[in-house]
Amino acid sequence: MDTLVSPDPKALGSILKSGGLVIFPTETVYGIGASSENEEACLRIYQLKNRPSDNPLICHYDSIERIEFHCVLSPLGRKLLETFSPGPLTLVLRKKNRNLFPKELNTVAVRIPKPEVVRNMIQYAGGVVSAPSANLSGRPSLTRLEDIKFYFLGKVDGILVAPDPEIGIESTVLDLTSDDPVFLRPGTIEFGDLQTLIPNLRRIPSLAEREKNEVSPLSPGLKYKHYSPKAKIILCSREEFVAKVQGNDSEVISGKKWGAIGFSILENSVSSSKGIRFVDSYAEYTKELYAFFESCDKMELDLIFCEVPIEERGTEGLRNRLFKAAEKLS
Ligand code: TXA
Ligand code: MG
Repeated sequence: MDTLVSPDPKALGSILKSGGLVIFPTETVYGIGASSENEEACLRIYQLKNRPSDNPLICHYDSIERIEFHCVLSPLGRKLLETFSPGPLTLVLRKKNRNLFPKELNTVAVRIPKPEVVRNMIQYAGGVVSAPSANLSGRPSLTRLEDIKFYFLGKVDGILVAPDPEIGIESTVLDLTSDDPVFLRPGTIEFGDLQTLIPNLRRIPSLAEREKNEVSPLSPGLKYKHYSPKAKIILCSREEFVAKVQGNDSEVISGKKWGAIGFSILENSVSSSKGIRFVDSYAEYTKELYAFFESCDKMELDLIFCEVPIEERGTEGLRNRLFKAAEKLS
């Protein structure tokens, strides 16, 4: 298959409109899109990603007005979109437009991506594009054009060329379909940011609680293992991270190829040739995380040591993805 690789939102929008698959960068991660009203095209995304068929896709919109036309938007929903959109917030709403994929579901996840070129493309595509993250199911999302080309060139109809995602992890997902909104997935918009607008915001029950009460997952994505690279992730405190990269703990790693990501070490005499990535802020760590995992897998490393940032503002989404990658969270 020929893949059109182009910065032209009109050309890629018309590919989507005629039933093609297009990969595009959002502010969070790359997405792989199809027209939301074209069931056949949406189903092709599942084949390509090897995605479980019961995990629905996010509908990407170009405007709040169109969301309101397709979905039931409460005053709270509107206020949240006005506050955080375009941006990394996804809302699960009740559907008005029954044709949105998947038709059997009466709820739909919606968001308005930040890059203007992407919103233009969505407009040319007809106003709504279903897209999961552009990665093989179970693998970390992709955040660099070079990685997108490596996996998907020749397998999709188009790739929109625009700046790589600035955030690096997926959007925050919030379910507004019940009286008490539920915080389903953290991103860079955090529980605390939303709680100021939603005093009755609930967290999802833990896996243990869900199992005990036999509650079906509120969001199908929650029951799948996510975001893991091939290399084994080992979570570290600051002290452990410093000891590892300075080679004080060679016993644990002998015979294994390893990489490490964490905050910079002053008086740093460590070379970066082993796949060591130092970051200087939570935002940089978040942006680099998946790209680094992907690089480590290309280098065929066995282990990746990741410094876990402390629990404070700016780390909720990052900590969630680290715990998920280390399979310490479901
Ligand atoms: O940042 C993002 O959200 C990226 C970019 C491309 O927009 N997309 C993304 O999509 O991360 P995906 O498919 O990897 O994650 C969507 C999540 C899944 O956990 C899915 O189960 C949940 O949203 N979801 C989608 N529709 C839902 C619905 N109707 N009810 C509950 N959860 C839903
Ligand atoms: Mg995904």
